[in-house]
Amino acid sequence: MAVETTLVLVKPDGVGRGLCGEIVARFERRGYVLRGARLIRITKAVARQHYAEHKGKPFFADLVDFITSGPVLALAVAGEDAIAGVRTMMGATNPKDSAPGTIRGDYATLLGENIVHGSDSRASARRELKLFFPDGLL
Ligand code: RTP
Ligand code: MG
Repeated sequence: MAVETTLVLVKPDGVGRGLCGEIVARFERRGYVLRGARLIRITKAVARQHYAEHKGKPFFADLVDFITSGPVLALAVAGEDAIAGVRTMMGATNPKDSAPGTIRGDYATLLGENIVHGSDSRASARRELKLFFPDGLL
């Protein structure tokens, strides 16, 4: 058990559908604390870095196009075991498998438009937080 900070992105579909407030409220109600928030439209270069683990996969180009199609809300979310806890609150990657009560289970139906991103490990969180909050203010 340890206090961790993780990167959450409300993806362009979530921002476009007006779900930022709802998603932030869920994390805050759980007891997590916001340590950073930025609404930004990322470049393709940043998107490719963010999703580097998926480079070479058939869906990589679509993923980069989608995440750069509009602004994302980048959040640094902190709390006890926040990395795994946030992932649990997001639900399964494919919304058809996401349980009701999770963010994807409540708001999404499509794998390619699944509303939120959350870091999947401590190493990912460290790398991704640096990418979205490079000024070191966290
Ligand atoms: P994310 O990185 O966005 O938080 O999602 P995740 O960890 O739950 O899933 P990941 O495996 O990292 O996949 C990243 C995003 O790529 C899209 N995807 N498409 N067509 C496909 O087979 C496929 N697989 C994954 C999803 O939008 C997923 O969120
Ligand atoms: Mg992922």
